[in-house]
Amino acid sequence: MTDETLSNLLHEERRFPPEKAFADAALARPELYQAAQQDRLAFWDEQARALTWETPWTQTLDWSNAPFARWFVGGTLNVAYNCVDRHVEAGNGERVAIYFEGEPGDTREITYAELQREVSKAANALLGLGVEAGDRVAIYLPMIPEAVISMLACARIGAAHSVVFGGFSAEALRSRIDDADAKLVITSDGGYRRGSPSALKPAVDAAVVNTPSVQKVLVVQRTKQDVAWNDEKDVWWHDVVDSASDVHAPQAFDAENPLFILYTSGTTGKPKGILHTSGGYLTQTSYTHRNVFDLRPEKDIYWCTADIGWVTGHSYIVYGPLANGATQVIYEGTPDTPHKGRFWEIVQKYKVTQLYTAPTAIRTFMKWGDDIPASFDLSSLRVLGSVGEPINPEAWVWYRKHIGGDRTPIVDTWWQTETGAIMISPLPGVTTAKPGSAQVPLPGIGVDVVDNDANPVPNGSGGFLVLTEPWPSMLRGIWGDPERYKDTYWSRFDGIYFAGDGAKKDEDGDIWLLGRVDDVMNVSGHRLSTTEIESALVSHPKVAEAAVVGASDETTGQAVCAFVILRGDAGYDESQAEAVITELRNHVAKEIGPIAKPRQVMVVAELPKTRSGKIMRRLLQDVAENRTVGDVTTLADSTVMDLIKKGLGSSS
Ligand code: WT7
Repeated sequence: MTDETLSNLLHEERRFPPEKAFADAALARPELYQAAQQDRLAFWDEQARALTWETPWTQTLDWSNAPFARWFVGGTLNVAYNCVDRHVEAGNGERVAIYFEGEPGDTREITYAELQREVSKAANALLGLGVEAGDRVAIYLPMIPEAVISMLACARIGAAHSVVFGGFSAEALRSRIDDADAKLVITSDGGYRRGSPSALKPAVDAAVVNTPSVQKVLVVQRTKQDVAWNDEKDVWWHDVVDSASDVHAPQAFDAENPLFILYTSGTTGKPKGILHTSGGYLTQTSYTHRNVFDLRPEKDIYWCTADIGWVTGHSYIVYGPLANGATQVIYEGTPDTPHKGRFWEIVQKYKVTQLYTAPTAIRTFMKWGDDIPASFDLSSLRVLGSVGEPINPEAWVWYRKHIGGDRTPIVDTWWQTETGAIMISPLPGVTTAKPGSAQVPLPGIGVDVVDNDANPVPNGSGGFLVLTEPWPSMLRGIWGDPERYKDTYWSRFDGIYFAGDGAKKDEDGDIWLLGRVDDVMNVSGHRLSTTEIESALVSHPKVAEAAVVGASDETTGQAVCAFVILRGDAGYDESQAEAVITELRNHVAKEIGPIAKPRQVMVVAELPKTRSGKIMRRLLQDVAENRTVGDVTTLADSTVMDLIKKGLGSSS
């Protein structure tokens, strides 16, 4: 983010106080802050008591082996029981848990009682396939109810799931299955995307050739497209799940039993398997979901548009909402299929009360025009949420005006795969909102902005965002790599968690997020590592060297820009530029997934490097963003930037 944008942000003076009627009825009370302040651990005890435990805990937090935390020590519970069965037992079995809207327009309504039967069947089927408590199960599915059912079935039997986003490549899937030693993969023939069936199983077929840990592949039939079949490994969901008993007695597991692993990009080429456990995770996801969205499970219709392959889908489609007994919409497809009003049509059809989406989507809707949402009835909406990247004030104000009818509170929620749940956010009905700022840590959460030496910066200054206290839904580590966990998050500043984001405190002490300060890009709210894409490029036989930067992009926040040096023996000349660039872009899509496909690939003769050989991405970012190139004095060869610009025909 440039200094200019930064100062624009901090001159944002619009304020949106809560409406009185909303504030009077709001679930979140200002007293929550005081309660948490007075006794933080007692506050979290109180939140944990909203769940149903089999055995109570004896200690709230054990931080004696920091940074490895244990929350609700000695407590036992079953996560799936908390998300499903207890609502049925409380007499709410007939409440709809999921309104499923398929992209082609097919629908399915699943009550809590049905969800209990479906999850029980799936749990029995998994047991029948040899999955046991403590095992890992990979899930590679489109946004269909079976994705939720599979996750809950794993939780029910104490196996950890590792959901891999359906847009990831066979190779990305293979490396994740392998890292977690998954015993079973759950997938489908395909899903619907932009009006046609899109295959998933071929990627699994390719992946499992090289994953010795996988014993079976469980396949949901969604599109009925042709699939290759391996009689030894493949089993149809409709054969083994549909015939399984719909009764399964959930057993309680330790509060620290692994619930899931979710891979996310770090600053090196190898994705990190972020580990989350049960009691603390469910406590914080349900507490935040209730208070941040002002959730009234008996009447609200909540909709989070994320994919289950990301942490937002885990925490705010599956675990938080279901633990709270919410009724929610799950939509399979894209916002522009079959028309650009699809989201608003869904809001109108189901009378959605809370909508949780991403700034990149909001900016896209702005681009498509105000008249599209204006032609639907959006008056059911009560709270709007934003997540994934900083939301620029103009998009915030547009969201409130054109989607929220100039009426709804907006919650800009900052968190990460690692934090498991929302950490910084206004509370609707309590906080006077500032467009563009996530503002304040939630009650029970410790946040600060510090300088290079870990000193808190004064109001009006910027620095690094840190989390100063352990929190219940914090990651418990990186799967199989405790050292990397300590190095990545706990070594930059002694004893406090380094989030990797830059932030600024305004004159009131409110927090403004400024984007990543490490080699991680944020493209449409998805985290991508520069190094990972560089490795993918270098794995192409024509590429000698590659440097990747995230350049700001009006719609996607950042876009991937790659600079490559081709190998001398690639026999490259200018006339083939276009073909080579297409080949390299497709190569990245194949290696990692279409989301990582560079917007631009620039063929250059040299890369800017320091004397110690480190690529100066900052200078390349200047080129990619069409800015005057900054200070080049630390370059080993200061003429390199001229060469690059000349080669690209750049005028600046
Ligand atoms: C990174 C985490 C949290 C679920 C989706 C992304 C950025 C996230 C915000 C926000 C500014 C945000 C940060 C963070 N981010 N939410 N409201 N304002 N930045 O999860 O893939 O783990 O990415 O997303 O840079 O570190 P993730």
